[in-house]
Amino acid sequence: MTSSYLHIDRLIKRFDDFTALKGISLDIKEGEFVCFLGPSGCGKTTLLRAIAGLELPSEGQIVQNGRDVTVLPPEQRDFGIVFQSYALFPNLTVADNIAFGLINRGMKKNHAMEKVREWLCLVDLDGYEDKFPAQLSGGQQQRVALARALALSPGLLLLDEPLSALDAKVRIHLRHEICQLQRKLGITTIMVTHDQEEALTMADRIVVMNHGVVEQVGTPEEIYNNPASEFVAQFVGTMNFLPANVVDGDQLKIEGITVPSPQDVKGRHATLALRPEQIRIGKPSEPGLGATVKTIEFMGSFVRLECQLRDNSSLLQVDISAERAKQGLPARGEMCTLSWDVVNSQVFEGEVA
Ligand SMILES: Nc1ncnc2c1ncn2[C@@H]1O[C@H](COP(=O)(O)OP(=O)(O)OP(=O)(O)O)[C@@H](O)[C@H]1O
Ligand SMILES: [Mg+2]
Repeated sequence: MTSSYLHIDRLIKRFDDFTALKGISLDIKEGEFVCFLGPSGCGKTTLLRAIAGLELPSEGQIVQNGRDVTVLPPEQRDFGIVFQSYALFPNLTVADNIAFGLINRGMKKNHAMEKVREWLCLVDLDGYEDKFPAQLSGGQQQRVALARALALSPGLLLLDEPLSALDAKVRIHLRHEICQLQRKLGITTIMVTHDQEEALTMADRIVVMNHGVVEQVGTPEEIYNNPASEFVAQFVGTMNFLPANVVDGDQLKIEGITVPSPQDVKGRHATLALRPEQIRIGKPSEPGLGATVKTIEFMGSFVRLECQLRDNSSLLQVDISAERAKQGLPARGEMCTLSWDVVNSQVFEGEVA
């Protein structure tokens, strides 16, 4: 592919007899913000490090901006990187931390300091030149790290869980700042995260990984609304899984009730997947699956109910908007029915693991 800025082809990384990356192929367009999302140990950092040249792939190819960089050392590649732990030089001031790479590249000190001031403005830290890292909060240190990574104007920005060491409020604030800065600069960016909310809110496209393979690549909407596998459905957002018997390809039977399947399924067993916000709650006389309300939680903009199906011990999570909840909800312990629109359900062959 010529149109992609970063082209990764059948990348394999082995550590002794353990294979951390099992043939990853991926294309990233210029200016895109891509998140690598997946559980701990799935290979996100290994893939990022291979892109940076900090890890040598066992097989496969990485092409950046038309140049085969697969075996190039990091210093011959064109990227800036920010790690989870701030990794600033503790004995250098903020200004010297950012200027370090510039001066190393031969830039004159006063020109470098001019650049430093520009970058500090961009990350909202003007006036912090003479502070030392220990005098800054975690969020401020990460902004310095970001400025340092960007100071050399790299073609590619790599971020490995840059927000995960920060508290929730700072994290959400910095999410916006990183996104704004990325759009402003138009820099192709890859961010590793195991936080699905972070990926959904920040990324143009998400690469969902599991056990060293890519499970799905798509926009946040595609990943959320059309998960390609049960793993993706389970990992991104909250999903209810209902075991079902396949009656006839496009008909499923759940607890004796026949419901339509969103698509044809093979085999005798299937799993119907439903998002909490796609389920409607009705009176026991209304059509749907019979259930009992176990818990009700007021969450501000919506109400979260846990409902237990008659013959099924597993609990279903149902989210009702606060607006609809005003029209009346069953009380805890009461019977109700659950229904949904077939287009809002997903079906997977076989039973849930
Ligand atoms: N240098 C190494 N030697 C041996 N095994 C390694 C090495 N680096 C990584 N691994 C293994 O490769 C797998 C993937 O590791 P990696 O750090 O890429 O995971 P990750 O997705 O970034 O996880 P986390 O979310 O915990 O950071 C893990 O099982 C890890 O133990
Ligand atoms: Mg990691």
